[in-house]
Amino acid sequence: PKEGEENLRSPICCIMGHVDTGKTKLLDCIRGTNVQEGEAGGITQQIGATYFPAENIRERTRELKADAKLKVPGLLVIDTPGHESFTNLRSRGSSLCDLAILVVDIMHGLEPQTIESLNLLRMRDTEFIVALNKVDRLYGWKTCKNAPIVKAMKQQTKDVVNEFNMRLTGIITQFKEQGLNTELYYKNKEMGETFSIVPTSAITGEGIPDLLLLLVNWAQKTMVEKLTYVDDVQCTVLEVKVIEGHGTTIDVVLVNGVLHEGDQIVGPIVTTIRALLTPHPMKELRVKGTYVHHKEIKAAQGIKITAQGLEHAIAGTALHVIGPDDDIEAIKEQAMED
Ligand code: GTP
Ligand code: MG
Ligand code: NA
Repeated sequence: PKEGEENLRSPICCIMGHVDTGKTKLLDCIRGTNVQEGEAGGITQQIGATYFPAENIRERTRELKADAKLKVPGLLVIDTPGHESFTNLRSRGSSLCDLAILVVDIMHGLEPQTIESLNLLRMRDTEFIVALNKVDRLYGWKTCKNAPIVKAMKQQTKDVVNEFNMRLTGIITQFKEQGLNTELYYKNKEMGETFSIVPTSAITGEGIPDLLLLLVNWAQKTMVEKLTYVDDVQCTVLEVKVIEGHGTTIDVVLVNGVLHEGDQIVGPIVTTIRALLTPHPMKELRVKGTYVHHKEIKAAQGIKITAQGLEHAIAGTALHVIGPDDDIEAIKEQAMED
């Protein structure tokens, strides 16, 4: 960065909520992909990661004319499963992120895993934005493809607006019962104390520009210290999996620092990074596709690592890199304690 400019890494945003509220579909809508339809039973069963470069965010938020001055290089979004049996994966996702999107189905309101997710986020004091999804299911909703939500609301009949307001009020009350103040984001004058709600549709795209802009602005405004890049490697294993042609690989989230091909890593076995792979920008790490090879990668990123012995790696643990002056035994011991 130039002198006087902040050296920020991409914020890591976790998307959480009850099963089938539309978490993966929202990401599909932003990516222009079809990951959700390829999932067995339409259920997410792994943690995913997608990198959104700043230029794509700028493009997608242009209509809001907010002159989004993007100081972050991009946004790394972690997808989590909403099914009740995956509490461990929700916990892993929420422990990694700087901020979160909590997705609520406007037709269902708060559900058991909404509340579970909410409590995981509160436990770690993680800020989040509520995406009130599936607004296109309001009876008589008029599609305004990818429009900012205020513009889309202006196109709706009085009946649609009434149903929207009734459901919104009910959901604000449900949040209140959980001890949380929430408000439509464009009416929220005290962000930080009152959590913002962004109405969205993952199918027709209304509210998506608002969601992206709010996330990035909020991160840049309130998390500068947390997002200031540091060289110390901070890296967590998301998943351990066998990939045809690569053997056992690990998917990791690099929160800070740089990884290089050939780096010696411990987690918990000592091995050498053979290949550093990422999906293309705006593609899901957990979906098999073509990978981009890197000599080195700077945080924050979702990365697939290939190396020998990775079948011993453990999802959810930290990955340590051995520097030239490091004591391998000490790092090994530390890795065993994780
Ligand atoms: P899990 O990861 O399994 O917890 O589910 P999810 O929250 O990722 O939801 P998913 O993206 O799998 O969507 C569930 C279903 O809701 C799918 O059939 C989607 O097509 C549908 N859906 C998601 N978002 C919307 C939306 O905004 N509007 C409408 N009408 N349907 C939606
Ligand atoms: Mg999903
Ligand atoms: Na689903």
